[in-house]
Amino acid sequence: MPFIQNTWYAAGWANELGENLVARTLLNEPVVLYRTADGGKAVALADRCAHRFVPLSRGKRKGDTIECGYHGLCFDATGACVSNPHGDHMIPRSARVKSYPLVERDGILWIWMGEPAEADDTKIQSFPEFAKDSGFVSVAGSLHVKANYQLISDNLLDLTHGQYLHPMFANAAGPATLEPYNDPDPETVWAKFYRRSQYPNKYFQFLGYPADTLGDHRNCMRWNAPSNLLLDVGMTKVGAPVEEGISIPTAHLITPETETSSHYFWAMARNFRLDDEPFSKKLLDIGIDLFNNEDKPMIEAQQAAFGDTDDLLSLKPVLLSTDAPSVRARRIVLRLVADEQANKRSAPAGDVRAVAR
Ligand code: FES
Ligand SMILES: [Fe+2]
Repeated sequence: MPFIQNTWYAAGWANELGENLVARTLLNEPVVLYRTADGGKAVALADRCAHRFVPLSRGKRKGDTIECGYHGLCFDATGACVSNPHGDHMIPRSARVKSYPLVERDGILWIWMGEPAEADDTKIQSFPEFAKDSGFVSVAGSLHVKANYQLISDNLLDLTHGQYLHPMFANAAGPATLEPYNDPDPETVWAKFYRRSQYPNKYFQFLGYPADTLGDHRNCMRWNAPSNLLLDVGMTKVGAPVEEGISIPTAHLITPETETSSHYFWAMARNFRLDDEPFSKKLLDIGIDLFNNEDKPMIEAQQAAFGDTDDLLSLKPVLLSTDAPSVRARRIVLRLVADEQANKRSAPAGDVRAVAR
């Protein structure tokens, strides 16, 4: 299935960028990311020199340009070739590489892989808990998963897997209950899992919730296309408002690398023990352990079992009641892909949208 092109994807964390050149394949396209010195603008260019198509990320920074490591053409932050060290030094008109709209928001780099003229940054999903001065502190990581991005969304939209896959999340009373909730926004899916009036699992005990105290535990996942999720994790005393409890908003931003591999950027924020560095380190270790050592191998094994297909529903899987949110999300993706393909077909000849990938 084609990827949705005209949408914002996470390209990484804003604090990854500096002098260095970061090479990353997104939606099958090689991209190089860096930050200019003047004002520190984040830049995304095609990682493919216009001359002999080698990765520009094998070159080096020369001021705010990249000097290709093969024959020395220099490309600026707009993708224009600005220096040709050979012959009469004339710059061929075709010597330019694609540049991608890239926006930094909430500590996240958002890239638009589709038609640049349609990039509308008001459509970027909001993750204010991860912004500077949000009142939360956060730890972040990323991993590479050899699986289609929607298998990772499926994993996140059915958190009953925590009971079986993550010993730290197992609950004495069994898996959490999915409580029905349909967001009125047709492009937002919520999967709200609760454990009401139960004792804390190992994770909440680690966070400081007393082992002998009953509480209401929530795992409410918000999904937006193509695969950007925010998990509101929290525990309060029974019946207490969420503001009175522990809150750990967690971002899960999944960006396809290829049809069968993905970048998974995650971050955990918290509204307590804000200055406790050792606690941050421990949370980071827990996140890495959970996502890298428990989710990733299971999802990769799932992809391996599928062979090359990226269409789960075509395999006619058994569907459980807890699959409702992930099926809804998949249907939204199918609709958005179909709309985009139809728009491409109906675009008049010569319209750049007709040839936009
Ligand atoms: S391949 Fe880049 S300058 Fe030749
Ligand atoms: Fe998990």
